[in-house]
Amino acid sequence: MHLVTLIPGDGIGPEITKAVTDIFTAAQVPVQWEEQNAGQTTFDQSGELIPTALLKSLEKNKVALKGPITTPVGKGFRSINVTLRQKYDLYQNVRPSKTTSGIVTRYEGIDLVLFRENTEGLYSGLEVYDERLGIADSFNRITVEGSRKICRAAFAYAAKHGRKKVTLAHKANILKMAGTLMLNACKEASNEFPQIVFEDKIIDNMCMQLVNKPEQFDVVVTTNLFGDILSDLCAGLVGGLGVVAGANIGDDMAVFEAVHGSAPDIAGQGKANPTALLRSALMMLHYLGEHAKADQIEKALEGTLLNQEECTGDLGGKASTSQFAQNIINKL
Ligand code: NAI
Repeated sequence: MHLVTLIPGDGIGPEITKAVTDIFTAAQVPVQWEEQNAGQTTFDQSGELIPTALLKSLEKNKVALKGPITTPVGKGFRSINVTLRQKYDLYQNVRPSKTTSGIVTRYEGIDLVLFRENTEGLYSGLEVYDERLGIADSFNRITVEGSRKICRAAFAYAAKHGRKKVTLAHKANILKMAGTLMLNACKEASNEFPQIVFEDKIIDNMCMQLVNKPEQFDVVVTTNLFGDILSDLCAGLVGGLGVVAGANIGDDMAVFEAVHGSAPDIAGQGKANPTALLRSALMMLHYLGEHAKADQIEKALEGTLLNQEECTGDLGGKASTSQFAQNIINKL
């Protein structure tokens, strides 16, 4: 039995979390959940944004499944997602985007995995505002070590999973220091993996290529901000934010979560698609070595996605979050 920390999160978080835990129960997955929350909800209850009990649970279990957590825009608290990623050095944000039979999109044959550096860059939290001058500075901190780690992880993943090519998306033509540092780190990592093709693309061209001919990409690696934006773009290519998984992975801890946020526009209405969180949970099962259970649930999910009627509204169906989960359970 694997002990896993479960963070339901905000907005649609509790609805999609319930769908996933119901499916896991029905499939008799050997996972025992330890539920802990964070964010505005826990702050209102106990005055703690990231409760000590949650940190203890994470440090003990080393694996978590997390729903989305709301971050206030402008003022208010710092992102809990970013804080957890930095605190535990979860430097790899791994986000696969793949075409799925049954999900209607403009494209076919997409199967790419994005590696986003998860702890530095423009999300380092190094910002100053000089009110007198009206100038805000946000520092784009890129380190040799951080760049080496994420680039090496992308190549190691490609080698392990029989992938052929790694593309680095960067802006070294303008960001002469930070961009070039990442580019050099990636070239260095590529030398260790001569069997994998390495190419680099400037981020603006990368965006155009992704919407024009996305099937040309295999493994993509990039810095924090570019990766944040590209992963939503890639989600749009394969069916939207409701269907793409994600994982924050460090050397000894992993937190699995969907790419999407707390979706306040549909929260509490039973409209949220739980596929993204379910696919993140399946990545978690592979990470835990429970490949057979992951494949069993994956098959039931794929079968459900084939029939639009059985899916949620974002995929053109009429099912609620819980009905969609039940449709998957029926196919287990
Ligand atoms: P969002 O990802 O929550 O929503 C964007 C759009 O996609 C909305 O129209 C929403 O209804 C739709 N959508 C998202 N997930 C869906 C699902 N499972 N099924 C069907 N439709 C879905 O992005 P938004 O609105 O920019 O952010 C809302 C909040 O989420 C913010 O406070 C943001 O900081 C937070 N956020 C948290 C993340 C995390 O916890 N890892 C990641 C991204 C955003």
